[in-house]
Amino acid sequence: MKSEMIRLLRESGEYKSGQELCDRFQVSRTAVWKVINQLKEEGYVIEAKQNKGYRLLESPDTMEAFEVESRMITKWAGRKVFYKKETGSTNTDCKQLAQGGQPHGTLAVADRQVKGKGRRGRGWESPAGESIYMSLLCRPDFLPDKAPMLTLVMGVSVAEAVERYTGLAAKIKWPNDIVVNGRKICGILTEMEMGLETKEIQYLVVGVGINVNNGFAGMQETGDWKAAREMAFPGELSDKATSLYLEAEKEDTKILRAPLVRYVMEAFEKNYVQFLQTLDLSLLRESYNGYLVNRNAAVKVLDPGGEYAGIAREIDDQGDLLVETKDGEVKKVYSGEVSVRGIYGYAL
Ligand code: BTN
Repeated sequence: MKSEMIRLLRESGEYKSGQELCDRFQVSRTAVWKVINQLKEEGYVIEAKQNKGYRLLESPDTMEAFEVESRMITKWAGRKVFYKKETGSTNTDCKQLAQGGQPHGTLAVADRQVKGKGRRGRGWESPAGESIYMSLLCRPDFLPDKAPMLTLVMGVSVAEAVERYTGLAAKIKWPNDIVVNGRKICGILTEMEMGLETKEIQYLVVGVGINVNNGFAGMQETGDWKAAREMAFPGELSDKATSLYLEAEKEDTKILRAPLVRYVMEAFEKNYVQFLQTLDLSLLRESYNGYLVNRNAAVKVLDPGGEYAGIAREIDDQGDLLVETKDGEVKKVYSGEVSVRGIYGYAL
């Protein structure tokens, strides 16, 4: 009822009388009043006027399930949300939810991760209250070799969502880092569980970390963007990573996380449907290539078989990067290297 009540108040933008809320949710006046009070305690600014009712003026920046769910307008992506204030990794939580039988589209979110996982065995810094840590459960019926492409589908979805929500120009560093003004704001880690005998996908977990308000606390403390950046991303990280807040440069404005989750889910649902039509990236390729950060720029390819230089051109239908070497040869750089982790888990 809580998420539905927030949704109703938010979507109407008008006063809703106590009676209307009672009728709608089939509960007593006291029950409505209790929920309203609870919401106020949780940081929602709700105006109550005699003879008019309640009106929602402001929502807090929380990743609680009821807040995220109250914003969702998708069919399946992110309709069911499981929140933890603190967790090891939302990818691990999501796997547990999958084992417990939760459906396609279930989303595990957290306010803080203490064992956030990055690609290639690295960690993912996950401080409390600042960023988005979420993992989406997918139960596809395509074959495992298609799975790495789903990470690119999520990449293009995050880029679209960031642009739509913040107006910042998001780019993709192939294969799936999202960057703003040349620094990383988002990483994606997809993990796959396969049937022991069948070799079919049991499920996929697409984990997304987006730096949202990192730097806000530092800015309030110092009033200096450079110092705030350095506090949020110390040392050499400050050249490589950033947050939406630091790039938006609106000193007193925190960026609400839940609406961004909604935009990502909306974009992913739309792009997933496109992906399923062809089981490759042919319908998403143009959009993806439009976001490619070093398109037509010089790149160095660190191929285990030997390093080489060239010009990055675009991705092909499989998500491989096409790099033109100086003698005009177009080489494919594969995004699909799969490193095996344990017996069942794979990092893509
Ligand atoms: C990368 O190395 O670029 C990928 C980082 C992925 C981080 C996200 S945060 C939510 C989800 N849970 C994790 O433990 N990792 C992913």
